[in-house]
Order: sequence, then C-alpha cells, then structure tokens
Amino acid sequence: MSKFKLASRIKGIAIVAACSVAGALALVSSGPAQAGETEVYTISVGGLLYDKWYKIVDGTVPKKTHPSYGDKGKKSGKGTWRCKECHGWDYKGKDGVYAKGSHYSGIKGIRGSAGKDPKAIAAIIRDKTHGYTKDHLTDKEVNALALFVSKGQYDMDKYIDSKTKAVKGDAEKGKPYYETMCSKCHGLDGKKVKDMKAVAYYSNKNPWEILHKIANGQPAEAMPAMRILDDQILLDILAYSMTLPKE
Ligand code: HEC
Ligand code: HEC
Repeated sequence: MSKFKLASRIKGIAIVAACSVAGALALVSSGPAQAGETEVYTISVGGLLYDKWYKIVDGTVPKKTHPSYGDKGKKSGKGTWRCKECHGWDYKGKDGVYAKGSHYSGIKGIRGSAGKDPKAIAAIIRDKTHGYTKDHLTDKEVNALALFVSKGQYDMDKYIDSKTKAVKGDAEKGKPYYETMCSKCHGLDGKKVKDMKAVAYYSNKNPWEILHKIANGQPAEAMPAMRILDDQILLDILAYSMTLPKE
C-alpha cells in the first residue's frame, strides 16, 4: 500500500468516525435520548419539591394553613403545605424527630410508601387529604415527588442515631469531599455565608435535614444535588461538616 493510500484510508476512517460522532450528537439533540431525564435527577427534583415545592414551581403558592394540618400542630400558613412539615426530614412523621417539639403535627410518616408504585403515590398526592391540584403542581412535578417517595428516601435510622444525632460517617474521609465540593460556596470553615448561619450550626442541629439537602440540593439556590454519590460519601461529608465551627 502506498503512503498516499494509507493516508487517505486513515483520513477516511477519521471522516467516518467524525460522522458517527456527529450522528450521535444529532441523536442526543433531537432523539429520544433527551425525552426524559435520568432517574437519579428526577428523584433529586422530587427531594427539592418535598423540601419546599412552592419555592421552585410556577404554580399557585397557598396562603392558608393546609386543611389536613389538623389542630395538633403549632404551625400555620403556607409552610404547612411543605411535605416535610407533616412527614418530617426523617420521613417518619409523628414516629420520628417530629414526635415532639414545635413541628409536631401528629401525622404519620411516608416510610411505608418506600418501594411502592410511583403511580399509586402520585394518586395519594392528588387525593382529598393532600389537595395538591394542577394549580399547585404539574403532573411532572407530582411524578418527581412520587419517584422520590418511592425510591429516594434514606432509611435515616440506619444512618443517624435518632437520640444522639451521631452520624455513621467518617469525618476524615469526608474532609476532601467537603473541601472540593462545598467550600467554594460555604468556605473551608463553613462560615462563608449568604443569609445562613455556619454550616456546622445546621448539620449539628438537624443532621436529617442536612443529609436531605446534601442529597437533593437547597431549593431555589445553586447548591447541587449529590445523591449520585454513594450514601456513605454523603454521610462522611455530613460527619465532617459537623466538626466545623458552629458559629
Ligand atoms: C398538612 C399535612 C400534610 C402534608 C403537607 C402532606 N401530607 Fe402526606 N399525608 C398526610 C396525612 C394526614 C396522611 C395520612 C392519610 C391517611 O392515613 O389516610 C398522609 C399520607 C401520605 C402518604 C402515604 C403514607 C404511607 O403510609 O406511606 C404519602 C406517600 C404522602 N402522604 C406523601 C406526601 C407528599 C409527597 C407530600 C408533599 C407533596 C405530602 N404528603 C404532604 C398529611 C400531609
Ligand atoms: C454552588 C454553591 C453551593 C454548593 C457547592 C453547596 N452549597 Fe450549600 N448552600 C448554598 C446556598 C446558596 C445555600 C442557601 C444559603 C442561604 O440561604 O443563606 C446553601 C445552604 C446550605 C445549608 C443550610 C441549609 C438550611 O438549613 O437552610 C447547608 C447546611 C449547606 N448548604 C451545606 C452544604 C454542603 C455540606 C455542601 C457540599 C456537599 C454544600 N452545601 C454545597 C450553596 C451551595
């Protein structure tokens, strides 16, 4: 084979390769690959909605207390429409951290719905007890919530001691993750704040909430969802964040 022929063959291969890359890109930009987001992403969106849906949707923000909030709880107003207000950061409602204190509402948790068919969970969110209409949440948002409830709940008792709040994570292992993934926004000491107090203030006070937020992000803020990482890494980051200065 002459040099020229070899070169043009290589060129030919390069052109074929370039074409198939272009083809793949064309598929990505127009084809089914874009039709749906990945499951882990959708779960993280569901987690944000569970936290404070009315901060991140275009739908109507309720003004009055949720009709199912009942008279056992001390809260009122739109906050009672947050899933977490009735069902808790540990997803255990009256059987978890919200068994007492200012967030007690006497309502059960959602642990029993882990693993259930998301369609059945979506129907619960739309039922009379819940009363989330299409004015509040679109079907897509309800489906994300349902996927979160079915597949995104952590079994918090496995990860956080419900009495001592000790986290089953290794702070030393969490440090490089915190430094590389959190410190740009929060500072190496967790004190580079916007409106909030130090990171360690929150993680020590409510490790369940902060695990939820590390996994799913902070509603309406740039903080990313990290649930793509192994649960153990999130626990290590949480454990490290608890060792930082609290104020
Ligand atoms: C104002 C309080 C309140 C709010 C807010 C609330 N729920 Fe509920 N939820 C209830 C009550 C009460 C029940 C129990 C209904 C029953 O037993 O018939 C329930 C039950 C459930 C269940 C079934 C529980 C089980 O056995 O696993 C799921 C799932 C659920 N809610 C999800 C959600 C989601 C998701 C949100 C947020 C979009 C939400 N809830 C917001 C009061 C609330
Ligand atoms: C892109 C920036 C960004 C990154 C990265 C980021 N955060 Fe945040 N985080 C925020 C912002 C913004 C807020 C809301 C601040 C406010 O309300 O003042 C927030 C809120 C928080 C809160 C307070 C939550 C509450 O109770 O309201 C904690 C704790 C926290 N982040 C921890 C972390 C940890 C741990 C990491 C790394 C795993 C991380 N953040 C990564 C931007 C970020």
